Amino acid sequence: MKAYLDNNATTMPAPEVVDAMMPYLGAEYGNPSSFHTFGSSVMPALESARASVAALIGASDASRVFFTSGGTESDNWALKSGCSIDPGRPGIVTTTVEHPAVLETARHLGETGHPVGLAAVTPEGSLDLDSYRLLLGPSVGVASVMAANNETGVLMPLAEAASLARAEGVLFHTDAVQAVGKIPIDVDRMGIDMLSLSGHKLHGPKGVGALFVRAGIALPPFMHGGHHEGGMRAGTYNVPGIVGLGRAAELALEAMEEERAVVTALRERLEQGILATCPGAMITSGAAPRLPNTVNIIFRGVESESILTLLDMQGISASSGSACSTGSRDPSHVLLAMDVDRNCANSAIRFSLSRYTTAAEIDFVLEVLPGIIARLRSISPYA
Ligand SMILES: Cc1ncc(COP(=O)(O)O)c(C=O)c1O
Repeated sequence: MKAYLDNNATTMPAPEVVDAMMPYLGAEYGNPSSFHTFGSSVMPALESARASVAALIGASDASRVFFTSGGTESDNWALKSGCSIDPGRPGIVTTTVEHPAVLETARHLGETGHPVGLAAVTPEGSLDLDSYRLLLGPSVGVASVMAANNETGVLMPLAEAASLARAEGVLFHTDAVQAVGKIPIDVDRMGIDMLSLSGHKLHGPKGVGALFVRAGIALPPFMHGGHHEGGMRAGTYNVPGIVGLGRAAELALEAMEEERAVVTALRERLEQGILATCPGAMITSGAAPRLPNTVNIIFRGVESESILTLLDMQGISASSGSACSTGSRDPSHVLLAMDVDRNCANSAIRFSLSRYTTAAEIDFVLEVLPGIIARLRSISPYA
């Protein structure tokens, strides 16, 4: 038996996505930017993918969805170009719990002279709107608040954050990489100016994503070169990836409501099972609105690395947080920002489910995990 519960790191490409991509990995290899029919006949597939992505995020103008190489590129583009539109507004405001794709970009911009403000979060991991409001002002060009946190699943008050930014004339960007496809997002209704998404987090392929940029925003291109994407993003189109992303977006939209209910029920089964069988386990952000698929649990007195190793030996894939922190023993910046103490932050495990998670996988974790925790507790100097 195996259990894959690390879907916030990456998801299984849906079989329908793979099927949709196959022709473009083979016979349909034309370059959509070519003059000849063999290449240009591929363009409608790209435009159809664009429309599917736009529909998933509630963008009425599909032409404002630009394909990128993924969430990291989209975040870099939004921040680096967003704070260069108006020389009088060089500042950036973001939060302490962003993914490194945003935080490291902001840090880099800070080193190159852009003032950077980091808004605090509440102990539950949600944006502290007072702290955020105080940072917005006439010298800020762009504010970036993630839609859902990748480690805790906490949903941020996006519409409020967007409206506060707009009231100050600040462009509002959201890294919605973990939210898109899992919960309804509507850029028009929520007042979002720019939104990043990524294919491989929603059962699409890796290495493809998109940035939505509201019409009227003169966002300078980030990648320079040919005139692809109306001059907004240079580089030969990743046709199979884009087609796969489009199909993944369609499937996500079709299945979202049903999937939310099923995944939430499985997550609750996991949470309740763990709380009942692992004494001292604590759910992080348990009271906050969260993604249906994510739970972060602290097993006080036991190191997450040891838990993950023993789970892996039994065929269970989970994580201690963002995949990018793997390999480093630093406690999660997200949990530290929530005032979780260092020892507890070093004892946190994230389980993230998907539409393909089965009850048998959850039951397998519940069968294996209590023994692992008890065994590690019995040899832990901290327990
Ligand atoms: C919230 C968030 N933003 C950005 C990224 C980066 O996306 P990509 O892997 O497509 O570059 C991730 C990936 O883990 C993420 O969770």
